[in-house]
Amino acid sequence: MLNLFKKRKHKKELSNLNLNPEYLPAHIAIIMDGNGRWAARRALPRTAGHAAGAETFRRVATYCKDIGIQYLTVYAFSTENWKRSADEISTIMELLEKYLYESIEKMERDRVKMKFLGDTSVLSPKLQALIAETEEISKKFDGVQVNICLNYGSRNEILRAAEKYAQERVSVLRCADADSYPLKEENFSKYLYTADIPDPDLIIRPSGEMRLSNFLLWQSAYSEFYFTETLWPDFNEKELDRAIAVYQSRDRRYGGA
Ligand code: FPP
Repeated sequence: MLNLFKKRKHKKELSNLNLNPEYLPAHIAIIMDGNGRWAARRALPRTAGHAAGAETFRRVATYCKDIGIQYLTVYAFSTENWKRSADEISTIMELLEKYLYESIEKMERDRVKMKFLGDTSVLSPKLQALIAETEEISKKFDGVQVNICLNYGSRNEILRAAEKYAQERVSVLRCADADSYPLKEENFSKYLYTADIPDPDLIIRPSGEMRLSNFLLWQSAYSEFYFTETLWPDFNEKELDRAIAVYQSRDRRYGGA
């Protein structure tokens, strides 16, 4: 009943902005940027910015689920983020642990799938166990999927995919198998962390930065981009509506006329 009410409320909010509920992006990806600056403006430690950013993520993920977005992918920790202080890294990892603990209970109820993109093998055993558990629960559901990029870097992802492809296919290539040679885009995509996930329709980067920072380089070939000055902890449902409105105003031609 509550969910039905929420859906009606959001439909109303969507129509307020003249959004077309039939043309929502199926997959939204977000670079959650600006946590540090948000904290600095309040004379707080950077870690407080990440805690606020984790809350924003919760709100935005719930909103995406409620309005019918099928895939939400967030950049939580990049392969380059290890350069940050030990304190900041452990805070981000603890926030992720906390989020996963809480999610395990809610996933069954909300039927939300969860997937982790990146090399998670170097994370703490506790975090790896939580990841394994959430991925196991996810196998039972279809529908809304939240992808968390963790120790993720897109160049590394592409190199890893090329290596895997070469290892697996070298014998097949020698036989010039029609499906595998020459290597086709759709075949190569299966070796990326995002195998089975459609490319993002809309990529959002808050905080005024306008770059991809090693995020979904292959997958973003025809994504639409939305940049905003808003810092991630201040991002909210209204801002997501605005991003969707901009997306709906774009003419996606995929290189055609
Ligand atoms: C970028 O802002 C943000 C990060 C590197 C970390 C993002 C992590 C979280 C939001 C918390 C955990 C996530 C989940 C999914 C529960 P920045 O620190 O680079 O900000 P700045 O550019 O203002 O310094």
